[in-house]
Amino acid sequence: MRRPMVAGNWKMHGTRASVAELIEGLVNLALPGSVDVAVFPTSLHIGLVAECLEGTSIVVGAQNAAHETGQGALTGEVSPGQVVDMGCKFVLVGHSERRQIMGETNSVLNHKFAAAQASGLTPILCVGETLEEREAGKTLEVVGRQLDSIIEELGIDAFVNAVIAYEPVWAIGTGLTASPQQAQDVHAEIRAQLAKENAEVAQGVRLLYGGSVKAANAAELFGMPDIDGGLIGGASLNADEFGAIIRAAGN
Ligand code: PGA
Repeated sequence: MRRPMVAGNWKMHGTRASVAELIEGLVNLALPGSVDVAVFPTSLHIGLVAECLEGTSIVVGAQNAAHETGQGALTGEVSPGQVVDMGCKFVLVGHSERRQIMGETNSVLNHKFAAAQASGLTPILCVGETLEEREAGKTLEVVGRQLDSIIEELGIDAFVNAVIAYEPVWAIGTGLTASPQQAQDVHAEIRAQLAKENAEVAQGVRLLYGGSVKAANAAELFGMPDIDGGLIGGASLNADEFGAIIRAAGN
């Protein structure tokens, strides 16, 4: 049985005051014990959030970490080891905003994924197609290539300690959600692709859906057999809404 997971990606949001308020809301939520919950603040706020959530069941992750394990001369970056030192358990790898806006390629992401694991973090690999790619019938090809890049470079066992988030780019922050069936179809293909390499790894890996998930559509999405939870952007900035999404994953 895969344990459901709900992750909140705060993106480039938050001030000290708003983060403190959000944390207060989170710690006061009554959460089901059956769901793993993680939040991903900006790098600046990781320390504050990790400190305030210590002793709770909510863990902290980073939205990004460097492609190298060690510390050194790399202005503006944080290393995965530093992220661990600040109390993080997870790191996002290959969010579409980083692929598209920051120009991160599959090759760079392979290094980031490997460096994260080598440092003791669990990477959450984000994959997904653009609207043009979906309309051209290329969804599975694009997602398949993003996964294959990791498999070819690091081997299928890289997914033993990893999470995958399927996030159609056209559904992120747009209010457009993939229908539960659309999401399930891609999730099933992702699992089938992994199963060709190793059935056990494929059965064990958690596949999250992301893209305009909110309390109103979460239960239907999480009810699909290959959807093991969600990666939540906008709706994770509201503690009550995020709590309702977490409860939907626990049902
Ligand atoms: P959204 O973002 O929930 O605001 O669509 C999801 C994500 O980018 O992870």
